[in-house]
Amino acid sequence: MCGMFQRRVLPRIVVLASGNGSNFEAIANATQKGLLKAEIQALLVDRECFAVERAKRLDIQWIRLEKPWNSSLTKYLERLKPDLIVLAGFMRILPSEIVKEWQWKIVNIHPSLLPAFPGMHAIEKAYNYGVKVSGITIHFVDEGVDTGPIIFQKALEIKRDWSLKKLEEEIHKLEHRYYPLVIQKVLEKKWKIVGRRVILEEDIG
Ligand code: GAR
Repeated sequence: MCGMFQRRVLPRIVVLASGNGSNFEAIANATQKGLLKAEIQALLVDRECFAVERAKRLDIQWIRLEKPWNSSLTKYLERLKPDLIVLAGFMRILPSEIVKEWQWKIVNIHPSLLPAFPGMHAIEKAYNYGVKVSGITIHFVDEGVDTGPIIFQKALEIKRDWSLKKLEEEIHKLEHRYYPLVIQKVLEKKWKIVGRRVILEEDIG
């Protein structure tokens, strides 16, 4: 009988967030729909934030990092041993030991077309700058602020009559649609590195 019914073990991810948690919820929904074939082991947060309310509602384990948060993070990552660490609005720079140890296993999403407008308040900065095209970037994490090798970008034309709120809504729609799909490709190892370029084997959307 052995081997007739092999249990499929899903890759495991942890999500790190500090704020609203809408990307976390989009990722969780994608796992439930089977769009993202992964198990969310836990949501890790560094502060009180709405993402935790979402985790409670979705019945996903959540952990509040203790101070000092970086050794706490190291401890939980060693315990959980995820296949991928997913930053979803985690508003801290990861220490270089973690970045080195988990190289190519940490992804981040950013609400602009990097390298334009890195750091905080990217949507507002792009809007106030008056750019006509913005978008989203999903990248591997290195030791800089939003500087890691880019996996995926989606551009968005900013229409003449759009308010900042409208731009924020449209950016978040893109994030929620594409982040789970890109995570899936990363987990499937459907990418390679050429120089500093990350090449996906197949186009997404
Ligand atoms: C997202 O827009 C994400 O791109 C951004 O924080 C927001 C989190 O929203 N991340 C950065 O700016 C990283 N530099 P959420 O908490 O609703 O997912």
